[in-house]
Amino acid sequence: MNTKENKYKGLAAILRRDWNRRISLDRRMWMSEAVDSDEQMLASGERDLLLLLGEEITDTANKRVLEIGCGIGRMLIPAAKYFKSVVGVDVSEDALNAANLLIKSRGLSGSVETILVDGSDLLEIESNSVDLIYSYGTLGIVPTGIFACLLHEAGRILRLGRVMRFQLYLGTEQATIDQDTLAVRSYDLKKFTTACALCGFSIELVEELIHPIGNVSKPHEGIVAHIVSLKKESESTTKPANVELSLLDSPENSSIENWKGSALEYQMAITRAQKLVQCGNLAEAKALFQYAADNYADADKVIHKLLQEIDLAIADKS
Ligand SMILES: C[S@@+](CC[C@H](N)C(=O)[O-])C[C@H]1O[C@@H](n2cnc3c(N)ncnc32)[C@H](O)[C@@H]1O
Repeated sequence: MNTKENKYKGLAAILRRDWNRRISLDRRMWMSEAVDSDEQMLASGERDLLLLLGEEITDTANKRVLEIGCGIGRMLIPAAKYFKSVVGVDVSEDALNAANLLIKSRGLSGSVETILVDGSDLLEIESNSVDLIYSYGTLGIVPTGIFACLLHEAGRILRLGRVMRFQLYLGTEQATIDQDTLAVRSYDLKKFTTACALCGFSIELVEELIHPIGNVSKPHEGIVAHIVSLKKESESTTKPANVELSLLDSPENSSIENWKGSALEYQMAITRAQKLVQCGNLAEAKALFQYAADNYADADKVIHKLLQEIDLAIADKS
């Protein structure tokens, strides 16, 4: 294995560790929308599936469809309504265990399959075997090297002339640490077009994602959520490392010295914990505040104070 391949394997292992940690704490909150029940989650998944795939949901009866980063099945389970055969791949065992329980509880084990993947490749899937690939809330937050690997792999597994459609941020390159598995990456459209061509894709559609639940973009920061649709025109003749190089002016920083942890993960945990406090769910709020404090080096003193207050409130109640 060369140095680049080793780097990708290392990042994939970090992705697995981080996503298992998140999902074992709270399986729904880290999916693309934090909701309180499986029913609400699946309804949001179907809404996003239709928003993403639009006119691709035609002639679906014989299509084999694959979701990259299916998580706990939010969109994968609704997809079974529309397609003959649905496969979800994910790097996290915890995500797939939760997805499999939901799939079984809905009697869909015959039509929905999940596959644990390594995170830097899709080797379990045969070349030229898939009719449609989709992905949501995943490819825009993986390290750029991993994005390059998965785009390259998507070009391998998709049948010629078929489509890959996914959500991605386009705009201005963002400074980030490559080990941050939740930071938003945003690509320059010209560079992204080159990367697609290297993987054998032409771009069919680039459209801003206007989401019914509100703003998913930060245009002032150069981060604009898009739906992109790629068509496989040919087989790739290059390696993921060249795709990665074409995506950014310079590679993502791999030094974690002085890095505090994922800022977005920290903010998401705090926001959810505050909501739980308002609902009076102190035990879960406490677990989330604790999680935020454990996984972010600069967790404010405020969290520690809040944790003490919650402990007192719990003691008072009992
Ligand atoms: C934000 S969740 C989105 C899940 C789902 N697409 C949805 O919208 O509900 C991202 C998912 O992608 C998975 N993931 C992250 N990196 C991956 C990779 N390199 N290969 C496969 N799955 C990955 C994570 O484990 C997680 O389940």
